[in-house]
Amino acid sequence: MRIAFDPLAGMKQPLPSAAPRGGRAPTILVFDSGLGGLTVHRDLVRARPDARFVYCADDAAFPYGALSEEHLVARVLQVMERLVAAHAPDCIVIACNTASTLVLPHLRARFTVPVVGTVPAVKPACETSVSRLVSVLATPGTVARDYTRALVAEYRGDCAVTLVGSPRLAGLAEATMRGEPADLAAIAAEIAPCFVDVDGRRTDAVVLACTHYPLLADIFAEIAPWPVAWIDPAPAIARRVTQILGPAQPGHVPPPATALLTGGAALAGLATVFAGFGLGETRVESLPLH
Ligand code: DGL
Repeated sequence: MRIAFDPLAGMKQPLPSAAPRGGRAPTILVFDSGLGGLTVHRDLVRARPDARFVYCADDAAFPYGALSEEHLVARVLQVMERLVAAHAPDCIVIACNTASTLVLPHLRARFTVPVVGTVPAVKPACETSVSRLVSVLATPGTVARDYTRALVAEYRGDCAVTLVGSPRLAGLAEATMRGEPADLAAIAAEIAPCFVDVDGRRTDAVVLACTHYPLLADIFAEIAPWPVAWIDPAPAIARRVTQILGPAQPGHVPPPATALLTGGAALAGLATVFAGFGLGETRVESLPLH
């Protein structure tokens, strides 16, 4: 089950409007540390099939979950500086919780282009949980953020919220997408702490608070100790982008979508993955991590 989530709810921000002038289709820049942002990209394409998409995976710096906060802020600003200059997007989507829970204020201070982030969907999970036991599955970085703790404090109501920082899942998702056999035992061990049983009362909602995790959604559902609602923020992010840019313009043929990699390891295999998400052109724009 996918539950709608408003990624800006509670952030008390005015809604920027950025519909491009002259009826031209907008350029949407989608950004993540790797392949996880594709789970947001696919909902964005459904919402704005006419847009020109540029997807950037900062794979040279993957995984973001392991970077210090200072390093991550500097890195995202550095990559974004280059991307904005090269592609002049009408909207930037940070399809990464690990980055969004830290870097959004820095990006909004630096660029005038509207920036939509991806943050843990704590609110809808706590609103809909019947057992009042909710888990947030994220990278260790996202779990440690003040921002995430504040979201939980604001929206948990009477729910007990378990924060689970997984050191390995994003990498396991990348490996599975690159065609390696899914390591079911490792995946099961990473999601196990999400499943809490208090005298027969069991967790019934798990927030997918890393965009890599919906890539493994079928496996999660298969190996979970019991069924839960897996909450994915992608549809809400797509709605927010449509609010900012306006609805799709009928009759526009979208220009080819481009995938960019800052590292480009195993590029040949990745080109096939990107093509499966409609990103026909895959290029390496080298930006090593220093
Ligand atoms: N996809 C990213 C997120 O949503 C994280 C993966 C990483 O650690 O780089 O948090």
